[in-house]
Amino acid sequence: MPNFDIAAAFTDKAWLTDMSARLDKKMRYGVEKARQVDYMPYSTENGQWKKTDIGWWTNGFWPANMWQMYRMAGDELYREEALRAETMLDEALRDFKNLSHDVGFMWLIHSGVRYALEKNQDSFDRVLYAADMLAARFNPNGFIRAWNGQGREGWAIVDCMMNLPLLYWAAEVTGDPRYRLIAVRHADTTMAYFVRPDGSCNHIVIFDPETGAFLDNPGGQGYESGSSWSRGQSWALYGFVLSYLHTGKREYLDTAKRIANYFISQITDDWMPRCDFRQPAEPALKDNVAGNVAACGLLELARALRSLEGRFYFDAAVRILKAQEQDAANWELNDPAVFTKCTSAWHDLPGRHITMTYGDYYFIEAVNKLRGDELLFWYPNR
Ligand code: GLY
Repeated sequence: MPNFDIAAAFTDKAWLTDMSARLDKKMRYGVEKARQVDYMPYSTENGQWKKTDIGWWTNGFWPANMWQMYRMAGDELYREEALRAETMLDEALRDFKNLSHDVGFMWLIHSGVRYALEKNQDSFDRVLYAADMLAARFNPNGFIRAWNGQGREGWAIVDCMMNLPLLYWAAEVTGDPRYRLIAVRHADTTMAYFVRPDGSCNHIVIFDPETGAFLDNPGGQGYESGSSWSRGQSWALYGFVLSYLHTGKREYLDTAKRIANYFISQITDDWMPRCDFRQPAEPALKDNVAGNVAACGLLELARALRSLEGRFYFDAAVRILKAQEQDAANWELNDPAVFTKCTSAWHDLPGRHITMTYGDYYFIEAVNKLRGDELLFWYPNR
């Protein structure tokens, strides 16, 4: 039996045409607004892009949005904006000591994509430099250090699963297995210490940086220790699928399925992920980013599986995408962002139900997958 074909299975072509047109209109407006400021778009306030520091971890998503739109609409405007943003981000590379493990999010999905499409040497250098920085954060006890700051030497976070493709990329383009070996050690540690038997995940695990002994698992961006931050679940879901695609290790695929089954089992009847699957009933906080990331992970998972099994994950992905779009998408030209119910962290009160470029990014990525675009931005060598 062949693997599941997500583009062939998605028969609602009118929805795709409609979404592509809406995204094109909205993203053109976003570009116009972005060119009025001298910083990278991330969130919005009063209909304008809000100021962020150049080293902020989400800053690769704006140029990545532009490459996705370039693939969708084919307009040079998007490519030019991607290149403008890529150059702007060089300041963050120069200030490398302030960067975290999120260098995969920051460079692979635009500079890596540009290299894959155009073989641009400067883009290649940026991605390889980022990979070297990520590799340098590896603690030989088996984990990648997440954040800077004294006292955080032993902190690892589940989100890092989405940065591992940067290391797989570097191993493939250089032929040096060290990058892949680091990624695999970190993924194995994540399976052992982050993913619980029921498929839910810890956000943060603190290890003794000298011995590697487990010390603690604080609640992080979720509700509390032992709860289940939905975005962390979605990073783990998509991240394990990607690690499977790069390594062929069956246990990564099985882990992705376990997380996906848990995610689907926890979603409410409205198909909109709450911010934390174990949060109190009120406030009923949602997170559109978790939904859109999970949808991308579910679509790639479906693609990696035989038809019967793949159908189950595909159906869940489509339900999430359509539900979120219906409930929370703003298509008006009164604000450059689309999704309005992105939540930065359960305890961050001003960060509840806001806009975020990466909430939009994963929706655009999912629409492109359903249109049949097979260029996986997290695996641009494929
Ligand atoms: N990686 C941090 C977040 O998802 O907010």
